[in-house]
Amino acid sequence: MNIITFDSDEKLNEAAANIIVGQVQTIPRAVLGLATGGTPVGIYKQIVRDYERGMVSFRNVTTFNLDEYVNIPVDHPESYHSYMKSHLFDHIDLPESQRFIPNGNASNLDDECRRYDEAIELSGQIDLQLLGLGHNGHIGFNEPSHALIKGTHTVDLAEQTLEANARFFASIDEVPKQALTMGVGTILKAKKILLVVKGADKADIIKQALQGPITTDVPASLLQTHPNLIVLLDTAAAGKLA
Ligand code: F6R
Repeated sequence: MNIITFDSDEKLNEAAANIIVGQVQTIPRAVLGLATGGTPVGIYKQIVRDYERGMVSFRNVTTFNLDEYVNIPVDHPESYHSYMKSHLFDHIDLPESQRFIPNGNASNLDDECRRYDEAIELSGQIDLQLLGLGHNGHIGFNEPSHALIKGTHTVDLAEQTLEANARFFASIDEVPKQALTMGVGTILKAKKILLVVKGADKADIIKQALQGPITTDVPASLLQTHPNLIVLLDTAAAGKLA
């Protein structure tokens, strides 16, 4: 595990973007696993900047997003489909047919999850998976539980997740209660994982995830078992690490 701490958000975003852009420069047909939420916004901005400078092309890249809410219209401003378009996809040359996000409006969610796993399998392995970290230790939307699920599945979002995501909606009642998420098995199969964590409010959970026991109660703690994990932190998030 490689942990790097940054004293500014800008440097952290640049470093994360460099790793992602570097991956695509090295393997133009790279398969990227992508995240949403507050954490990657500045990283995507930097990637778009690099793209506009002609440093990288996404023409041959394939992307798989970690998750999407269930029963939110695709064009709702807070759907992860909309998020990815506005923060990244609308600004780079990644063909639409090579972008995958689970369909939370599918008539049969189990079939949709199977279809998503098959698409990931077909693409070969995910070369680089970008992850944020939930306050309760979730990765993707794999919430703390007595058991974790390997593949893509429907999940009831934890109360803490609904509260955290309420900031993106008019009220907590509007936050969708369920999501489709890639499973922990798929996440851990990625060749390389880039975990990015920002803010003092995540200092306790990142300590538990990286330095606590490996337990399904803190899904991110399973990342300790990954052979190629890079962790980028700001000084606030790193504040409690030993
Ligand atoms: C998003 C995702 C989540 C977030 C996590 C942190 O696709 O899978 O695990 O990464 O909830 O969210 P932020 O970055 O908003 O604190």
